[in-house]
Amino acid sequence: MTRVAVTALALSALAGCAGHQQSAIDPAGPQAGKIDTLWWSFFWLLGIIFIIVMVVTLLTLTRRHRGIEQEPLEGTHQPSEETDSRLRRVVTGATVITIVILFVLIVASVGTGKAIADLAFKKDPLTIQVTGIQWWWQIQYVNSDASKTLVTANEMHIPVGRPVQILGQSQDVIHSFWVPNLHGKRDLIPSRTTTEWIEADTPGIYRGQCAEFCGLQHAHMSLWVIAEPEDKFDAWMNAQLEPAANPSDPHTQRGQQVFLSNGCVMCHQIRGTTAAGQNAPDLTHFGSRRGIAANTVPNTKGNLAGWIVDPQSTKPGNHMATIAVNSTNLQPLVDYLESLK
Ligand code: CUA
Repeated sequence: MTRVAVTALALSALAGCAGHQQSAIDPAGPQAGKIDTLWWSFFWLLGIIFIIVMVVTLLTLTRRHRGIEQEPLEGTHQPSEETDSRLRRVVTGATVITIVILFVLIVASVGTGKAIADLAFKKDPLTIQVTGIQWWWQIQYVNSDASKTLVTANEMHIPVGRPVQILGQSQDVIHSFWVPNLHGKRDLIPSRTTTEWIEADTPGIYRGQCAEFCGLQHAHMSLWVIAEPEDKFDAWMNAQLEPAANPSDPHTQRGQQVFLSNGCVMCHQIRGTTAAGQNAPDLTHFGSRRGIAANTVPNTKGNLAGWIVDPQSTKPGNHMATIAVNSTNLQPLVDYLESLK
């Protein structure tokens, strides 16, 4: 019952997120499962200790009250030898029990860390390089075949039941990759690569969040992990590997021209066009993604228009340049970008 209540409390605090609730106690893979077990064992053990301490404190308070009434007013009160040795036994016993409990917690914690490390499968993994950048995620599917290397942003698809090796990097400051339904936190450190293994047992959409304060928009640095069956994942991958579709009607053709003739191309890449910027999210299949600005807002035409016209009002401090797009060009530009499925 308590488990349900605590989970419900944690979940209601996060209500409003799509897909699975972002929660370490709603595990969707073996790594997160072990962390979940550890979390609940800490919860129950420490909860029971808390209740015992509270009960003993209450008993002591009421007993002390009685004691004062009974004690003589004059003279210093020396406890009898019997009371003295009883107190000593109680204090020594409590100290020993505390040390034993702390030791048990350490062993459980280290044991869980070891058990998670043992889950690092080396056989046929999918390798994804995740780079933290103020304030978005670059997701790169590493493949020895260069034509199968995919770069995308802020959204990661993984096949269910297959181990995924996450190679974490940072381009500026320390970020932390954290998808609580799949694993614990892993820091992304400049000029270093950190490794983490995740695996999803259940198809679903899991929210990830930067978990290391990295500047003004740390709170708006989130990503989606979409776990899907192998065939759906393969279909997604093949579609993403395709260059961007060329617009077929004059309206979106004009949108493409607006994009290519403005500063957008300095930072963004759209494969299949001349836009080859590398400083900002790859937009080749932008229209297929769920969010804008590292999922600060959902990917809708309205949000996109607002983002292009005044990125600072959507996400203050972000590094997107404000491009002067006049009102007649804005709609074609938005429609073109949203057509990049
Ligand atoms: Cu990136 Cu916090």
